[in-house]
Amino acid sequence: MRLLVLGGTHFVGRAVVEAALARGDQVTTLTRGVSGPPPDGAKPLYADRTRSADLVRAVGDRTWDAVIDTWAGAPVVVAESAALLSGRLRHYGYVSSASVYSWPIPLGVDETASTVAADPRSFHDSDYSACKRGAELAVLEHFAGRALLARAGLILGPHEDVGRLPWWLHRLHQGGRVVAPGPAGRPLQLIDARDLAEWMLRCADGGTTGTFNAVSRPGHTTMEELLTIANETAGGSAELIWVSPDAIARAGVSAWTELPIWTPPTGELAGLHAFDVTAAHANGLRCRPIAETVRDTWHWLQDQAPASYAHARTAVGLDQAAEERIHHAAAQAGMRLPGRPR
Ligand SMILES: NC(=O)c1ccc[n+]([C@@H]2O[C@H](COP(=O)([O-])OP(=O)(O)OC[C@H]3O[C@@H](n4cnc5c(N)ncnc54)[C@H](OP(=O)(O)O)[C@@H]3O)[C@@H](O)[C@H]2O)c1
Repeated sequence: MRLLVLGGTHFVGRAVVEAALARGDQVTTLTRGVSGPPPDGAKPLYADRTRSADLVRAVGDRTWDAVIDTWAGAPVVVAESAALLSGRLRHYGYVSSASVYSWPIPLGVDETASTVAADPRSFHDSDYSACKRGAELAVLEHFAGRALLARAGLILGPHEDVGRLPWWLHRLHQGGRVVAPGPAGRPLQLIDARDLAEWMLRCADGGTTGTFNAVSRPGHTTMEELLTIANETAGGSAELIWVSPDAIARAGVSAWTELPIWTPPTGELAGLHAFDVTAAHANGLRCRPIAETVRDTWHWLQDQAPASYAHARTAVGLDQAAEERIHHAAAQAGMRLPGRPR
C-alpha cells in the first residue's frame, strides 16, 4: 500500500510505521517534527495539522491508498484531515479508544453500547472521551463505509509513552517487597501496539471497515502472570506481596493510575478489562503472548528509551509512601492474599 500515517513518531503511530515498512508498504508520515524524524524508510512530511493552511501545503496534490490517524486532541483537527483526504485515498483507519463508551463502562460492552456525547467540529481538547468520539464522528462524515474505527483498550509494548508497564518493570527491578494488587488471578485485557498496528494495516489492505473493540480477549493474561513475568524479566529480585482490593482502597490509592494496568474486579473500573471483542477477533485480530510484550518493553527501556522516553505524557505509578500505606492497611486488616506459586 501507499500509506499515510498522521503521526508516527511516538508509540502506536511508530508501531504502525514500522509494521507497514516491514510489510513493504510505501510510508509517508505527517508530523510537526517536534519529536524527531519517523523510523528510517518512511518519507516525512512536516506540518502543524491544527493549522489548515499548513496541512494543505504539506499534502499538496499527493494521493495514497490509506491513512492511519493517531490523533487524540480536538476533533476538528480530524475533521479537517478527513475532509482534505476524502478524495485522495480509499480507507481511513482511526486509532480510537474504548473510552468512547458512556461511563461507567459495563462489563462486556460491545460496539453497539452507548457512547459519550461529542461534536465532530469541537475545538476543545480537555475531555479525552469526547475527543475520541468526536474524531470518530468526523471520520465517518467523510469516510462513511470506508473507515475503520479501532477502539483500542489498554495498549502496551515498546515505546509506551504513558509509562504503565515501564513503571512496573522499573519498580520490580528495584526489588524488595512490591505491592501486588490482587486477586492474583484477576483477568487482564490489553493489546501490544504492534498487534494493533499489524491488524489495522491488514484491515486497510483488505478493505475491512467498521467499528471494533480492538484489544485482546479478556483474560489474555492475569495480574499474577504479568507481574511474575515482569519480575523475572527485570531481574527477579522483587518479592510480590499480594494485597486485596479493599486494602488498596483503604490506603486511598487509585487503581489504573497509581497502580497502573490494574483495576479491581468490581466497581466502576472493572469494565476496562472486560470488553466484548468478538467482532475484531472474527476479523483477524491476533494478540501475541504477554511474555513477548514484557520482554521487548524491558529491552527497549534498557537500550533505547532514554531518548524516546522523553515523550512520556503522564506520571503514573505509586510512590513509596503510598506503597507503605497499602502494606500497612493489608497487614492491619489481614488483607494479604496468597499468590499462587508457578
Ligand atoms: N495508551 C493507551 O492505552 C491507549 C488506549 C486507547 C487508545 N489510545 C490511543 O492511541 C493513540 C496513541 O497515539 P500515539 O501518541 O502513540 O501516536 P503517535 O503517532 O506515535 O504520536 C503522536 C504523533 O502526533 C504528532 N503530532 C502531535 N501534534 C501534532 C500536530 N499539531 N500536527 C501534526 N502532528 C502532530 C507527533 O509528532 P510531533 O510531536 O513531531 O508533531 C507524533 O508523531 C492515541 O490516539 C490514543 O488516544 C491509547
